[in-house]
Amino acid sequence: MKNIDFFISYSSNDKNIVDSLVESLESMGAKCWYAPRDVQGRYAKAICEAIENAKVFLLCLSKNSAKSEHVLNEIEMAYSHKKMTNGAISIEPVCIENIDIDCKEFDEIMYYIRRINFIIPQDIGSSYLIAKEVVKNNSSLFGAFESKKKERTASSYFTDDIEKKRLIIQNELIKKFDHEVYEKVYNSFHNPIVLDVGCGNGDILINRFGVDNYTLIGVDHDEKSILEAKNNHNFAKFYNLDVEDDNFADKLDDIMIQNNIQSFDIIHISMVLLHLKSQCKLLRILRRVLANNGILIIKDIDDGLNFAYPDDNDDFEKIYKLCAHDELAGDRHNGRQIYTNLVRAGYKKISLEKQGFSSIGLNYDEKENLFKLYFKFILDDIKYMHEKYPNNIQIEEEYEWYKQNYERIHDNFMMDDFVFSLGFQIYLAQK
Ligand SMILES: C[S@@+](CC[C@H](N)C(=O)[O-])C[C@H]1O[C@@H](n2cnc3c(N)ncnc32)[C@H](O)[C@@H]1O
Repeated sequence: MKNIDFFISYSSNDKNIVDSLVESLESMGAKCWYAPRDVQGRYAKAICEAIENAKVFLLCLSKNSAKSEHVLNEIEMAYSHKKMTNGAISIEPVCIENIDIDCKEFDEIMYYIRRINFIIPQDIGSSYLIAKEVVKNNSSLFGAFESKKKERTASSYFTDDIEKKRLIIQNELIKKFDHEVYEKVYNSFHNPIVLDVGCGNGDILINRFGVDNYTLIGVDHDEKSILEAKNNHNFAKFYNLDVEDDNFADKLDDIMIQNNIQSFDIIHISMVLLHLKSQCKLLRILRRVLANNGILIIKDIDDGLNFAYPDDNDDFEKIYKLCAHDELAGDRHNGRQIYTNLVRAGYKKISLEKQGFSSIGLNYDEKENLFKLYFKFILDDIKYMHEKYPNNIQIEEEYEWYKQNYERIHDNFMMDDFVFSLGFQIYLAQK
């Protein structure tokens, strides 16, 4: 069996609970391998091969497994495979019962796993909830079920100065790539009413649509950003709204009534959908308030469209993977989901106007900025994650690797013959 997500290491005395844990993991889309169900041919050889083909060695930790010779052998095999392959497998203990690691029974097993973070599920009585914790812990590792299962996180530190600076650089640079699309949209209207969803501190709304005779409304769930927007830009209206709130549609209606707005001519959603849990619901609500000839503009990203060449050490491939499980960076494969969600939300005349922003033709400073906006922000994010999870060895290793190699990767990036393309996408759609 190839491409196994979880090799399940457990004691046969825990078989009942492990059976239902495997069932739950598989119902969530993960591919599990466990004995005896999946053994074909000789037992020891089958175990070895399965470990070699697995992404995660899931150790079901209990008093029984702590004493099991089989389990200890399997852990040794997993460690030696990890060492030989430079980390192709990650070793993850998950507690399947309440345990006291200081008690004698755990002495031997702790020798192997004491430096690893355990998954300690909140509700140990439910194998479904244990499976959920395991999948959550690994959401970024498995491209196949990641896009469906990854719990998206809001861009939670937008108010951070680093993120603000990054967004300024991003928007300045990307103007080169997207200005034609915006111009096409501006030219379709005389005095348009514009809604910017996830407007942050309002700078982008003003920068892109700040013409006197435009009516501008911005909404964002970040209180500090909205306060800053209100202080800095007085000819637009800003509202502190969470677009995923159950009452978002009603709250938006209230704003429209207050401002005497029947519908919006332009709705702009830039780099926001990738942070949402459910974009289809939002797209439906927005379709309702879009004018009949109105235009929805979506800017987003899909790291699957990135490329870098030459990448002899696979540095860039490694960085995309780091970014995929960066908690702050949203769903990095969101771009590909947008067309489907627009269709499902009832939009027509959907076009993919642009995709892929490359370093070709950029001057030196612009190339530096392109590097900063993607690669520097990942470094900042990993540093943040390292501070948040100080005991997570994987994050620590990634952070150390990235810090040590950052300058070299930068120098490679700045070479004249190096090309990089980032998977930005811009869609337009109508009602
Ligand atoms: C990456 S920033 C993009 C900001 C700006 N639109 C741009 O293109 O530069 C994402 C923005 O979406 C906002 N956001 C994320 N989740 C949100 C939600 N559920 N409701 C409202 N705003 C949200 C964040 O606060 C942040 O301002």
